[in-house]
Amino acid sequence: MFRLSFALAALGALSACEGGEAADSGACDRDPPLSYDNFGRGFLEKQCTGCHSSLIRAEQRNDAPVGVDLNSYRDALLWAERIQARVLDPEVPTMPPGGGPSADELILLDEWLQCDLLPAAAAWREEGSP
Ligand code: HEC
Repeated sequence: MFRLSFALAALGALSACEGGEAADSGACDRDPPLSYDNFGRGFLEKQCTGCHSSLIRAEQRNDAPVGVDLNSYRDALLWAERIQARVLDPEVPTMPPGGGPSADELILLDEWLQCDLLPAAAAWREEGSP
């Protein structure tokens, strides 16, 4: 259903907007846009919540720190910048530790972060939520 050529075009456009600001210049023009419900939740559940979930016990987390949970939208807002760093920044040790997401999934994650989650997280903090 998702087309790689579109993703690559979107990524090229996105690379012009570093820094987590909402992109302009047509980079975030997918309709409907990627959201927690239509992309983020599924990505995090597939790649992250095996270790990072408030629903699993400390000894089952494969050493993922207690409190670093990724199983709700609030968690995603709280950890948005760290999700970006740990999954997409080549300078930082990668999550998941053993790798996992495909190139296509990484492109979609980048789009979701840039176009939805990072701006939402910034707005959420401005409204006074931790
Ligand atoms: C196999 C278990 C496992 C999976 C799956 C996993 N992690 Fe982790 N995660 C860890 C461990 C262990 C640590 C602590 C060591 C470290 O920070 O490298 C950690 C730490 C973290 C931290 C806190 C440290 C920081 O840099 O802020 C974040 C955020 C994080 N992971 C994000 C993710 C994301 C996002 C995913 C999914 C894409 C993911 N992790 C998948 C095991 C996992």
